[in-house]
This record gives sequence, C-alpha cells and structure tokens, in this order.
Amino acid sequence: MRSKLEEIRKNGREELEHAQSLEVLNDLRIKYLGKKGILTQVLRGMGALSPEERPLIGQLANQIKDELEKLMTAKSESLGREALRQKLAAETIDVTLPGRFFPLGHKHPLTLVLDEIKSIFTGMGFTVAEGPEVELDYYNFEALNLPKDHPARDMQDSFYITEEMLLRTHTSPVQVRVMQGMTPELPVKIIAPGKVYRRDDDATHSPMFHQVEGLLVDKRVTFADLKGTLLAFARQMFGEDRQIRLRPSYFPFTEPSAEVDISCFNCGGQGCKVCKNTGWLEILGSGMVHPKVLEMSGYDPEQVSGFAFGMGVERIAMLKYGIDDLRLLFDNDLRFIEQF
Ligand code: DAH
Repeated sequence: MRSKLEEIRKNGREELEHAQSLEVLNDLRIKYLGKKGILTQVLRGMGALSPEERPLIGQLANQIKDELEKLMTAKSESLGREALRQKLAAETIDVTLPGRFFPLGHKHPLTLVLDEIKSIFTGMGFTVAEGPEVELDYYNFEALNLPKDHPARDMQDSFYITEEMLLRTHTSPVQVRVMQGMTPELPVKIIAPGKVYRRDDDATHSPMFHQVEGLLVDKRVTFADLKGTLLAFARQMFGEDRQIRLRPSYFPFTEPSAEVDISCFNCGGQGCKVCKNTGWLEILGSGMVHPKVLEMSGYDPEQVSGFAFGMGVERIAMLKYGIDDLRLLFDNDLRFIEQF
C-alpha cells in the first residue's frame, strides 16, 4: 500500500507539472482528490490494514493529499497569470483610432455680442438688471415721460395685451423699475439686456429684437461721463482706433438727447459700403436722464443727475460680423450660425 501511495504521489506530481490549462487542472483535481478519486479509493482500502500500519499509512496519505493540493493551488495561480498575460497581449488598444464625434453646440452670434457687451460694461462697474417682457404701460411709457397722448408713442408701434399692458417696446422701462426699487440709494449703475417687441418686419426690422439699456444715476453725473463711457465701450467693442460722434436728437426720457455714431471700423472713416460712404455708423441713442423721469422714480433732480443709453444688439451684431439681412439671425440655419 505504501508503494501504491508513493506511485500516486509520483504520477500526481508529473501530471500536475504538465497540466497546461485550468480545465486540465480541474480534471486532475477530480482524478486524484475527488470523491471517487484515486487517493480516496486507496484510503477506503485502509480497513484491511493492521492496526499498527493504519496510522502510518493514514499519515502518508494525508501528506500526499496536502502536497498535491498545494501543487494544484500553485499551478492554478500560475496558469491564471499566464492566461491573463496572453489575453492582455492579444488585446492591444489602437490609440491611433479616431475618436467618436459628438456634435458640439455653438453660441448664436447675438449671444456672442450680448456676452461681449455685458463683459465690457461689467468691467466698468455696471451690474446686469432684468425686467419683464410683458410690461405695464406705466413703466414702458408713462414713467418715462411719455404720457398717454404723447406723439412720440407713435415712434414705437406696439403689441398691446390690454389697454394697460403690452409687450415692451424697449428696455428703458427697466430704468424705472431699478430706480424705484433702489431710491434713495446711489449710485444706480446698471445695464439691462433683453428682448423687445415692435410691429415691424423687414430686412432691417424684426418684430422681436434685443436691446441693451444703460443707466447711471449719482451725484454730479455729467454729459462728459456719458461720452467717456460710450467711447470706452466703442473702443473695446469695435477697436482701439474708434472715434465717436454725438448728434443732437430727441427722446422724451432724456434731455439733452444724442444719437451716437462710431467711426466706421471697416474703412476707418474714409467712407465705404458698410457706412454707406458717410464714415460713421449709428449704434445707439442716449442722453441725460430727464428731470421728470428722475422725479417720477423718487430721486430729486436738484440733487442727482444721470445718463442713459439704449442700443440694438442685432444692429451691432450685423455691423460687427458684416451680416446684411437681419432675418438670417432668426432662421436657425446652422450653416449660418456656425460661421461666427
Ligand atoms: N429706448 C430708446 C429706443 O428704443 C433708446 C434709448 C434712447 C434709450 C435714449 C435710452 C436713451 O436710455 O437715453 O428707441
């Protein structure tokens, strides 16, 4: 029996040594150590041994069993490592494969221009204020010194919702809302970007468009402050060489009022197609806040003064990017939008 066991040990070692895969190893485990395995069968025959021999043979059998188990564990680990190594060697990743393409969104030219305007004015200490697009007649007209029968209301053909409520025709009502919300605090220093609505529709007018309003109210604000602020804006927006020109104008909410032109960035003022040979481009309306407007919003026009301005964002985008038809901005054609 002893020699039989030694033979099992020898064969087991050899077979394990030559096992090339985990499957073969598993078969060997069953063959030697399984319930009906060789070793188990030998142990079953122990009953026939003499009482002296039994413990000796049992000890030997257990030794062999331990040894074979250890060998199997070691072999199984080394086979596992080898299998992984081969798998990794076969599975090379081609880092030169092109990546998967995800279409990226693109900012609309109006958003680009709005972002730039906001960044220029916040850089000068203005904060951004907002107001509702559905507005009361009171804020849109009345409190801006445009009483019910004022002829200048005709300059802004409006969409009315009720007699007292309309789609705002400009961002100027935000001036009133901000002042009334702040009085008597100073300074008031805001820009108000947003959508406005008028009954207009052609190559240069859209029923919905965007404006940016500006308002600065404080002690001793002068026309020179207005001019300096707008010059700084024009130069950051359209180039360091720009000049501005103020032409007398009329708005009910400012006195005096001015239309502001910048020297043409395309020809530098020589005259070209962009500026229609005038050398100048009109970009906004402005003026000193009318005393009545200050008063209606709770400020004392004897103590404080202010300037205001309002610009059309579409017009600035069209000038800046050389867009010749306003409607392109609202067609949602990616071939157009992706050019900016
Ligand atoms: N609200 C005017 C418009 O839409 C533009 C404007 C002119 C705004 C002069 C102002 C201003 O604040 O001072 O035509």
